[in-house]
Amino acid sequence: MGLISCHLPYRGVVLTVLWTIIAAVWTILPAYVPNSAAVVTGGGPPIDGGRTWAGCRVLGDGKTWRGAFGGTAAGVVMAFLLNFFRSSAFPIVGARVPVFPVQAAVALPLGAICGDIVASFIKRRMGHERGAAVPLLDQLDFLAGALALAYIVAPGWAAEWLGRLTVAVLVVLTPLFHRMANQIGYRIGLKDEPW
Ligand code: CTP
Ligand code: MG
Repeated sequence: MGLISCHLPYRGVVLTVLWTIIAAVWTILPAYVPNSAAVVTGGGPPIDGGRTWAGCRVLGDGKTWRGAFGGTAAGVVMAFLLNFFRSSAFPIVGARVPVFPVQAAVALPLGAICGDIVASFIKRRMGHERGAAVPLLDQLDFLAGALALAYIVAPGWAAEWLGRLTVAVLVVLTPLFHRMANQIGYRIGLKDEPW
């Protein structure tokens, strides 16, 4: 009895932290999918058409139209799948999670893909070859792009579901998830580098 009452206050804190993390990850999942999907769907003509600027490629061969469209489409499908499973998942996940309106369902993955493209542009300007690792930029570019576009296209929804606490949780967790996903992609032969 003494033991239970002693631990009860912590149970509430642990559950609140857990629900915050679950809700944050659920909300950002449509932005997590595009980069992995682009590895599978990518290839073909590069977005920059092979053009260079100041002696370096504008974006490089790692940014293709097929990767951008395939990645965005996969993220949109993920958003609608989450909408579909939301009510049945609630009793299991226990956390309050969002419905993705069309604007958010498109803005999150498209923003993630654009963030990744902007990062490649910056990397080429810094003189890094395709595939070079740039810590933090590689891991947070798509998150920054997704958040920015969500706030532009669906400001009310973003303010409700992507507030300061959620963003803080995502800034901490995203590099860990990104590293894990890329390790898996590398080990199963889909990615050339483990980052
Ligand atoms: N990809 C793509 N189109 C995109 C994004 C990714 O085709 N818009 C594919 C490419 O085959 C790319 C792979 O996914 O090589 C891994 O993506 P990423 O790590 O972002 O590209 P890098 O090859 O590392 O190139 P960069 O240095 O420009 O990031
Ligand atoms: Mg890379």
